[in-house]
Amino acid sequence: MATQAATVDKSPTAPAAKAPVDNRYKLLEATMKRYSYQADSLIEVLHSAQQLFSFLDDELLTYIAHKLKVPPSRVYGVATFYHFFNLKPQGKHTCVVCMGTACYVKGADKIVDAIGKISKIKPGETTADGELSFMVARCIGACGIAPAVVYDGAVAGLVSTEMVVDKVKGWLADGSE
Ligand code: FES
Repeated sequence: MATQAATVDKSPTAPAAKAPVDNRYKLLEATMKRYSYQADSLIEVLHSAQQLFSFLDDELLTYIAHKLKVPPSRVYGVATFYHFFNLKPQGKHTCVVCMGTACYVKGADKIVDAIGKISKIKPGETTADGELSFMVARCIGACGIAPAVVYDGAVAGLVSTEMVVDKVKGWLADGSE
């Protein structure tokens, strides 16, 4: 009895107040456009959304439903059926490191290595204490401020390895350690 129907009457436009620089909706839109907004591209679009946002929240699912003109119930049905879709961040905090070309050439791989070292998890994993989910993504549309990471849904650009390590260490220190 899945009655998780989200409010259907939300605006079909991308939520405005997510983050100061958030081109991820534009990239998602580009994916949908590539598939001509076909309803049967739903799985591909959800994959792309998860790559960009790391998990699929109500707002995002409703947005996709509007754009592809499919009932939100169907979007929810597909997103909940396949285990590879996350509807919630697994950890209390999420850190997504962009590994697109612009970020990669500016040292994103070093950021990924450094996070792996301090958290002892690999991209796609969550720490045992549930404090951190660590992910990598393809271009998140913030190449002008590469290297870019997304902390708890907010894009941060021009980051250094030290800055990211400090941020993540702070989160890890909040929990057990
Ligand atoms: S490559 Fe990282 S934001 Fe584009």
